[in-house]
Amino acid sequence: MNILAIESSCDETCAAVVRDGRKILSNIVASQIDTHAVYGGVVPEIASRAHAEAIAGVTEQALSAAQLSIEEIDAVAVTNTPGLIGALLVGVNFAKSLAYARNIPLIPVHHIKAHVAANYAYFNGEDEKLLEPGFLALVASGGHTSLINVKSYTDFELIGTTCDDAAGEVFDKVARILGYSYPGGAKIDAAAISGDSSAYRFPDAKVKDSPYDFSFSGLKTAAINMLHTASQRNEEICIPDFCASFTHAVVHALCSRIEAILSDKNYSFDKIVIAGGVAANSHIRAAIQELGKKYSAEVFLPPKFLCGDNGVMTGAQGYFEYLKGGNFNDLSLNAYATGKLNFS
Ligand code: KG4
Ligand code: ZN
Repeated sequence: MNILAIESSCDETCAAVVRDGRKILSNIVASQIDTHAVYGGVVPEIASRAHAEAIAGVTEQALSAAQLSIEEIDAVAVTNTPGLIGALLVGVNFAKSLAYARNIPLIPVHHIKAHVAANYAYFNGEDEKLLEPGFLALVASGGHTSLINVKSYTDFELIGTTCDDAAGEVFDKVARILGYSYPGGAKIDAAAISGDSSAYRFPDAKVKDSPYDFSFSGLKTAAINMLHTASQRNEEICIPDFCASFTHAVVHALCSRIEAILSDKNYSFDKIVIAGGVAANSHIRAAIQELGKKYSAEVFLPPKFLCGDNGVMTGAQGYFEYLKGGNFNDLSLNAYATGKLNFS
């Protein structure tokens, strides 16, 4: 089954063709990063307009790269929640029009579920080991930090989440004070490589009575205050050491919750999966590999090009949503800025 997938929830206009939820036939991403960088973050109205301008061309490119015509597409999958409402609506309306014109199924996809599904796609070749549920998933991106019990391809249980900032948001805000352009997560990652992670100390906030939840705003404020105070006192901050220590604090926050879940008798995970833009972080990837060894769990890390937003993940999840069944002819389909994850 060839699925044409559309993703426009934030600042990337994406279209991809995925066969049977696994095989990547094409993957086109038109990034708006340069447009938003001057503002230091995503401007929703500008994002919607840029999606509207790019979406037809990106879709044409996805079909052409897959060497398929629109007549050879069996269904359209589209991210309809969560995300920036105006941005989502561009993708949803475009997908609806395509599905209506061709009289093929229209499959709504939850963005967080899609991030997880990036791990189902082949990236090296068809003979590689394929991921199947159940597993423990960490989705960490600019808008989300979630620990999820993925019971089946479509049945998700949210175990822990952030009660304030997302991990990627904290990377971006701290990076901005360091003078790195938006989005700064990858720049902190690179700077941290040569740094000493024990040089600076940051708080490790716990959420009362919620051992698997995160709170990153205190860490963000501590990091920003440290930089401002040093600048006011004319003290020098060693940037690689600062980036390494800050990254270590984020890694510790993520890994300590994962360890706690792996030690929780209510669960019995033997696979750990990470996803989302922050899953591209080299320090987090290394730390998760170590956790896998320590707990004898298999670790699945998506290739970096499938960590950030893309259409492949939407096409992969869309396939499994289709197999589960439902109403895929609903042309009243809407977009929703927030979307519940705990549904099957
Ligand atoms: O998944 P994504 O593309 O978009 C959302 O759904 O939010 O994630 C983007 C986020 C940004 O905050 C970006 O700084 C972060 O992922 N990111 C990283 C790295 N690469 C991207 N954060 C830390 N280390 C990286 N290497
Ligand atoms: Zn995302």
